[in-house]
Amino acid sequence: MIGFEGAVVAVTGAGRGLGAAYARLLTERGARVVVNDRGTATDGSGSSRSTADDLVRALRAEGGQAVANHGDITDPQQAAGIVGDALDHFGRLDAVINNAGIISTTTFDELSAQALQRQLDVHLFGALNVTRAAWPSLVEAEGAAVFTLSAGMLGSRHTMAYNVAKAAVLGLMRSLATEGAAVGVRVNAVMPGAETRMQSTALDADSAETAERRRVGVNSPDNAAPLACYLVHDSCPANGEVFAAGRGHMAKIALAAGRGLAEREPTLEGVAAEFERIRSADELREETDLLSYRDRLIGIWN
Ligand SMILES: NC(=O)c1ccc[n+]([C@@H]2O[C@H](COP(=O)([O-])OP(=O)(O)OC[C@H]3O[C@@H](n4cnc5c(N)ncnc54)[C@H](O)[C@@H]3O)[C@@H](O)[C@H]2O)c1
Repeated sequence: MIGFEGAVVAVTGAGRGLGAAYARLLTERGARVVVNDRGTATDGSGSSRSTADDLVRALRAEGGQAVANHGDITDPQQAAGIVGDALDHFGRLDAVINNAGIISTTTFDELSAQALQRQLDVHLFGALNVTRAAWPSLVEAEGAAVFTLSAGMLGSRHTMAYNVAKAAVLGLMRSLATEGAAVGVRVNAVMPGAETRMQSTALDADSAETAERRRVGVNSPDNAAPLACYLVHDSCPANGEVFAAGRGHMAKIALAAGRGLAEREPTLEGVAAEFERIRSADELREETDLLSYRDRLIGIWN
């Protein structure tokens, strides 16, 4: 039985959707949880205190220990307030799940600096603000941080600003994981999938595939929660890794390099002649960080 007794976890954007499922599973298993949620619309506009308050009331009624935080994670001071609430109410902070998010259906034509900035503010800077404020506590607790990506960053035309911001979060997560390794903090990412109000903004909301998954009942946010929550459990060995979770599937998502072609003095003609070997995905190997990738290159040359 995996338990979280004694652990304190802050979950951002936890008033509804995926974050609420994480908060519920964590409190059910004994964690004390800071439920942060500004209560915005899916595009980030507006705010409502009841989003976090209602969930905390429900969790407490179910016997869980939770406290509401209404801060806007895009504001460094309010983000720090999430950590402050954990320390004031529960005396420690072991883990952060950076889950809060907004979405826009921006195409390349519409990818204005403002549209991108709005997405970066929440996904990248919001997660950075919270994690930076939490870092000393996470180091003290030898805890964990989770970031939230999206399959959209694998490539999709319709949510371009959102995808770019999620890809930026990947860079943050990977770099922080190398720093965390030196101080005992594990840093990973989840690429969730579930039918939430955000999903209804996505363009495949009415697809036959979505309808089928809904029919067989795998679209609930509850199905993404076990993996996302396991990433902050003491027994989880992962660091710097990305996991897809939800819609009836859990899997590793990797950055990988092929075997490629060792060539000290490449020429254009040589590239053209050997292009299929260079681009071959036959012998992909996961690359976990820059240093091990460099070691691999040195190994290929020698
Ligand atoms: N639902 C999916 O299939 C899916 C797929 C890929 C990624 N995601 C990601 O999962 C996360 C959760 O998504 P969801 O589907 O549960 O969405 P949701 O809209 O149901 O929940 C997101 C929550 O974040 C809160 N929030 C937004 N901006 C905030 C801010 N500045 N400060 C504090 N709280 C803020 C909102 O109030 C909302 O309650 C997001 O990061 C999203 O990008 C979801």
